[in-house]
Amino acid sequence: MKVLVLGSGGREHAIAWRVKQSSNCSELFCLPGNPGTAQIATNLSGSVSDFEGIKSAVLENGIELVVVGPEDPLVNGIRNFFAADDKLKDVLMVGPGKEGAMLEGSKDFAKAFMTRHNVPTAAYRSFTSQTIDEADKFLESLEAPYVLKADGLAAGKGVLIPETLEEAKSSLREMLGGKFGKAGNTVVIEQFLKGIEVSVFVLTDGKDYLILPEAKDYKRIGVGDKGLNTGGMGAVSPVGFADAEFMKKVEERIIKPTVDGLAADGIDYKGFIFIGLMNCAGDPYVIEYNVRMGDPETEAVMTRIDSDLLSHLVAAAKGRLAEEKIVISENGALTVVCVSGGYPESYGKGYEIFGSEYLFSSNPSDKIKVFHAGTAMKDGKLVTSGGRVLAVTVNENGIEKSRDEVYPEIDKILYTNKYYRSDIGMDLLKYE
Ligand code: AMP
Ligand code: GLY
Repeated sequence: MKVLVLGSGGREHAIAWRVKQSSNCSELFCLPGNPGTAQIATNLSGSVSDFEGIKSAVLENGIELVVVGPEDPLVNGIRNFFAADDKLKDVLMVGPGKEGAMLEGSKDFAKAFMTRHNVPTAAYRSFTSQTIDEADKFLESLEAPYVLKADGLAAGKGVLIPETLEEAKSSLREMLGGKFGKAGNTVVIEQFLKGIEVSVFVLTDGKDYLILPEAKDYKRIGVGDKGLNTGGMGAVSPVGFADAEFMKKVEERIIKPTVDGLAADGIDYKGFIFIGLMNCAGDPYVIEYNVRMGDPETEAVMTRIDSDLLSHLVAAAKGRLAEEKIVISENGALTVVCVSGGYPESYGKGYEIFGSEYLFSSNPSDKIKVFHAGTAMKDGKLVTSGGRVLAVTVNENGIEKSRDEVYPEIDKILYTNKYYRSDIGMDLLKYE
């Protein structure tokens, strides 16, 4: 089978790397991909938002399955674009249509969906500039801190958690006033959930589902979860507190009603659902849905799937997931993201990267895997080209051993202004 992975980050490198290991993968393409994917696939030039360009690439290369990495093309309707085109309508796709993608594209839609289908989540209400007085009253009825979410996609930055009522009221006005552009025309205000977060990943065909390995993400830039939010600085899988009892609650209270709810609403959903959860004293609550895999969680999760990922993806796209069984490795995975100093604010680019023998290695049996995120080739040299540069994953048993193996490898990777978090996994040691 000829497969195309859409996207260019560490997530897409990890998905492509796992698909490549299937004996059914005859040819692998990435659009646009990166220097890491170039080692295992043919990179096609283009952009994930140029649907006509993607159409040409799919037809020219006889692609049979498209796996959509990021949310933007899904929210913008790439599945609907394929379905409406005579030449593309039979191409298999992993990724929901526009309606299903609203689970991520609109927080208001997602909250209403959860309420309708009894999925546990924080109490909430949605407001616009017409209902600002009611919003103030609702804020007054809540306890600090306050959670304010721009309804639409805001590149992961649309959530504010002010500590005081006064700040909350002024943040609300800034959001409705255009701080996040159109995404903030509607603001969801919700109850603050106290607990520890975990990311749960599901692959569904709209009827059946497979539960992928869970992971914990490290969102803040600084050690000890301090500082600005980033796309993600590291990931660990499995997550000690997400034990069998907790995961059973997740499946019964969240995954089943979510998949059944999509079907009941008439939404044909074939793709990943990434459920951001809060474990509140042993009970799971949904913080958010995403309609794609997480990054950098994927760089840990993919290395723990022992069964044939491509077979699962094809089955999901065809609506035959009931026939599939996922096999998850006993070994864990720990991923540390090397970023450009300055990220998530401004940073330099174009610095040469060297030092590790694993930079271009994609051997599945290597204990260390280096997934590329923000890299480029320039004059035959590997250079930095983004905020998150490389996601370095180790497969080991236990967090302490994983940390002992991954950090010396990261020390070998050299480029100007390299930064990484030295505490990935530390908070989970107590659950082992
Ligand atoms: P989101 O973009 O919805 O994932 O929110 C970003 C981050 O804000 C989450 O990862 C949580 O750490 C935090 N957050 C979101 N909603 C809540 C909530 N209701 N209670 C506590 N923290 C939250
Ligand atoms: N790591 C969080 C995300 O992908 O949204």
